Amino acid sequence: MPALHPIGVYDSGVGGLSVLRAIRETLPCERLLYVADSAHVPYGEKTQEYVQQRALAIADYLVSRQAKAMVVACNTATAAAIAALRARHPDLVIIGVEPAIKPAAHLTRSGVVGVFATTGTLASPKFATLVQREAPEIRILFRPCPEWVLQVERGAIRGADAAGIVAGPVQELLAQGADALVLGCTHFPFLHEAIQAAAGPAVPLLETGGPVARRLRHQLQERGQLAAAGPGAVALETTGDAAALGRMAALLLDLPAAAAQVPAGWR
Ligand code: DGL
Repeated sequence: MPALHPIGVYDSGVGGLSVLRAIRETLPCERLLYVADSAHVPYGEKTQEYVQQRALAIADYLVSRQAKAMVVACNTATAAAIAALRARHPDLVIIGVEPAIKPAAHLTRSGVVGVFATTGTLASPKFATLVQREAPEIRILFRPCPEWVLQVERGAIRGADAAGIVAGPVQELLAQGADALVLGCTHFPFLHEAIQAAAGPAVPLLETGGPVARRLRHQLQERGQLAAAGPGAVALETTGDAAALGRMAALLLDLPAAAAQVPAGWR
């Protein structure tokens, strides 16, 4: 697979842009093709079968666009579909994202870690296995926050609006003894400021964009598929409203890229 081919990055909506941001920082020479499955957002309240079927459809589309790698920039889709994706595309580099349970387990002093994620992620067998493997001694508090996903999709990430929506869940977990908080959904880093303000400066918030970008770099390097030079580029596509995705990318990433709609038949 030629090094110049794009890296596909995919999420239910705009959340995966938090992972795209980290990939751009780590791999500035690469061509990135971001696909927001906005016609089907949110994934977090849908069945695992539904989310898996969407992941397979998007993967097929990315392969048709000659992607050399696929980053599933969505915890919910990773939990539901990563095994099926790897079975369907065994030769493609496929990187998923998982809540940062391991680093949180190392950081906590109270032995209690709070996890904010979608209902789908928290209910998945993959998440249960992760917790069992990485933090068997730690008390993990699960807090589904589907309303945070919609908040970020609306672009209401700052000010009183954002502060109001995060305050309750954050206080709930701190009151139960959590002293480290995992942002287990790729939408949530866009609420980082509001969550940190609610939790206080001493509470670490764990995200996964950086480690995912480094794992991607490592895998491409091993296969000799890293783009060696070039300014890099970002293309944005969505199964929903292209103009809305363009506006959100400008708001969330300061990325003035035009967005297009995924061709009919792939939506
Ligand atoms: N951003 C996604 C995640 O990391 C999914 C949010 C949703 O569509 O519910 O889980």
